[in-house]
Amino acid sequence: MRIIGKVAELQALADCERAAGEKIALVPTMGALHAGHLSLVETARERADRVWVSIFVNPTQFESAAEASRYPRDRERDLQCCRDAGVDVVFAPEPDEMVDPANQTWVEVGEVARPLCGRSRPGHFRAVATIVAKLLLAAKPHLAVFGEKDYQQLAVIRRMVRDLGFDVEIVGAPTVREPDGLALSSRNVQLHPEARRQAVALVRALDAAEGAVASGELDAARLLARATAEIEKAPLARIDYVELRDAHSLGPVPEKLADPALLALAVYFDSPERDAAEAVRLIDNRVLDPRRASSSG
Ligand code: PAF
Repeated sequence: MRIIGKVAELQALADCERAAGEKIALVPTMGALHAGHLSLVETARERADRVWVSIFVNPTQFESAAEASRYPRDRERDLQCCRDAGVDVVFAPEPDEMVDPANQTWVEVGEVARPLCGRSRPGHFRAVATIVAKLLLAAKPHLAVFGEKDYQQLAVIRRMVRDLGFDVEIVGAPTVREPDGLALSSRNVQLHPEARRQAVALVRALDAAEGAVASGELDAARLLARATAEIEKAPLARIDYVELRDAHSLGPVPEKLADPALLALAVYFDSPERDAAEAVRLIDNRVLDPRRASSSG
């Protein structure tokens, strides 16, 4: 496995691989790799000849420097995970290779980036879109794989690729879950054990809303109330948002759902011991499809 830290070296390798007819898949990550990332690697492997993983903790996409510094990092473990998974190249640049405070150019996606995490974390998607654009320009992949847990991020990246005409296929891969249903996330290791136990409230909220739709409930307000009630059963949970959005545009939904709707959750989990400023923010989502509603419900 080759480890590359410089953009120019990665671009030169991409040119060689492309000239030799090899298909490159990129899996962009911020490290702290877990089984969810490895499933993205598997998806990449099924579709390409070369699997490249980028590991870069993008300092510009956090709410604060403190949050960025708390983000879990374990370079040697990540590299070993990549070796074990048969990754061909790891791109692991130093921060100054990717982020130059003198830069004057940002990629700003419109409507689809505004609600949900875009409203809670101003500047977040601008930072994500910019770094993903730079990663795509560096790796020149034929395809890039992202997890559906970050549903809005995936929508923002798809929109950026479409609007700017990047010659790359964006592939979404399903969320991988712990046996109790908690979506895998690099942030899960930061949860206090009691908060980790309570974090299962997220998947319970999604299941409750999905079950309600299956039995014929299509009233958006009542579905949101069902999901919220599940989360509120967890005393350490503080809701950032619980929202229904059009699954395609992320625009508002009608009072009665008619088309597939995204139920999106963002919840802070406090620790019984630590400062609230160190709460861990988890997100999860599910697409609720009214076509699966039973007419008898
Ligand atoms: O999802 C992530 O890990 C990050 O947001 C990404 C796409 C690697 C950009 O920094």
